[in-house]
Amino acid sequence: MRKVLVTGGAGYIGSHTVVALIERGFEVVVVDNFCNSSPLVLPRMAEITGVEPQVVEADLLDRSALDDLFSVHQFDAVVHFAGLKAVGESVQNPLLYYKNNVAGSLNLFAAMQAHICLNLVFSSSATVYGDPDSVPIKEDFRLSPTNPYGRTKLMVEEILADLGNANPQWRIALLRYFNPVGAHPSGSIGEMPNGTPNNLMPYITQVAAGTLQQLSVFGDDYPTKDGTGVRDYIHVMDLAAAHLAALLKLPQQETSVRAYNIGTGVGYSVLQMIDAFETESGVNIPYTITNRRPGDIAECYADCERSKRELGWRAHRDLVEMMRDQWRWQSLNPQGYR
Ligand code: NAD
Ligand code: UD1
Repeated sequence: MRKVLVTGGAGYIGSHTVVALIERGFEVVVVDNFCNSSPLVLPRMAEITGVEPQVVEADLLDRSALDDLFSVHQFDAVVHFAGLKAVGESVQNPLLYYKNNVAGSLNLFAAMQAHICLNLVFSSSATVYGDPDSVPIKEDFRLSPTNPYGRTKLMVEEILADLGNANPQWRIALLRYFNPVGAHPSGSIGEMPNGTPNNLMPYITQVAAGTLQQLSVFGDDYPTKDGTGVRDYIHVMDLAAAHLAALLKLPQQETSVRAYNIGTGVGYSVLQMIDAFETESGVNIPYTITNRRPGDIAECYADCERSKRELGWRAHRDLVEMMRDQWRWQSLNPQGYR
C-alpha cells in the first residue's frame, strides 16, 4: 500500500485521516467537490505535515472525472468519506441523499472495478443500527436505520457485500463510526458546521464562544444514568488512526468485506459532556432541558472487541483531550477556515 485516493478528504474526518496517512508515508490524492468543506484546509494540512496533498476538485457523480483520475494514477486503495451527513436534511430531501451517497458511491466502485483497484475503506456509521435492542452494540446486531441518511449507509454496505460476493478479490473494511468529536491538537484543522450545529459538541463550544446563547438538552427522562442521552464519543485523531489500521490490515483481511465498530466502548451522557467541557475550559455552559428530539435514542455505545482483535486498533484519547482539542480549534478559528 503506497498510493491512496481519499474521497471527501477535505472534510472533517477526511482531513485528519489525510494528515495521518501523509505522516505515515502514503502518497495521497484527495477528490472533493467542496460542497461541505473549504480548499483553505489544504495549506493547513501542509502546515502540519510539510506536504500539501494533491487535490482534484470533482464530484463523485461525474463518472468520467473518476475514470480520468484512475487513468492518471495507479491507486493501491481508496478511503471513501465523500457523502452528505445531515440527518434532518436527508428527511427533507431524500433524493439528494440517495443520489449523492448511493449513486456517487456506485460511480466510485464502478471506476475502482474497471481500473482493478479492489481495496476500500468505507465510512459507515453507527446510525445503521438504529435503536439497538441492547448495549454495547456488536457488529452482528440487527441493522435498522431510522432515516434516509442512515439508509444510504446501509445500502452502500449491502452493495459492497454483493461486490465482495461477486469477486472475492475485493478487500473492503466498513468502519461504523460512533460520535466523532475533537480536532487536531495543533488547532489548525477541525470541523466548523455550516449554520447552527445539530451535533452536541460543536453546539457546546459555540455556546462557550458566545456565538450561541444557550444549549438545549434534548430530554432528561431517558432510562439512562441521569436521564439524558448517552453516546460513545470518539476523538477524531483516534478515528483517523483507525483508518490507517484498517488500510494496513486490508491485504490480510480474511473475508472480502468486514464491518468494524469504531468507538471507545464507553458512553457519556449529555450532562457529563457539559460538565467535562466546563471543567476543561473553565467556561460555564448555560442550558435548559427541553423536549426529546424526534428520532433520538436513549443510549448508544460500541463493543470494540473486533476492531481491537482484528485491526489491532483501539481509541486512546479520553474526554479531557476531546474537550481540550475541540475548544482549542473553536477558539483559534471562530470563523472556521475563513
Ligand atoms: P464532511 O461533510 O466534513 O466531509 C465530507 C466531504 O465529502 C466534504 O469535504 C464534502 O465536500 C465531500 N463530498 C460530499 N459529497 C461529495 C461528492 N458527491 N463528490 C465529492 N465530494 C463530496 O463529513 P465528515 O464528518 O468528515 O464525514 C465523513 C464521512 O463519514 C461521511 O460519509 C459521513 O457520512 C461519515 N460519518 C460521519 C459522522 C460524523 O459524525 N461526522 C459519523 C458517522 C459517519
Ligand atoms: C447524530 C445523528 C447520527 C450521526 C451522528 C454523528 C441524529 C438523529 N443522529 O447522532 O445519525 O451519525 O449525529 O455524530 O441526528 N443533544 C442535545 N442538544 C443538542 C444536540 C444534541 O441535548 O443541541 C443530545 C442528543 O439528544 C444526543 C446527544 O446530545 O443525546 C448527541 O447528539 P448528536 O451530537 O446530535 O449525535 P447523535 O444524536 O448521536
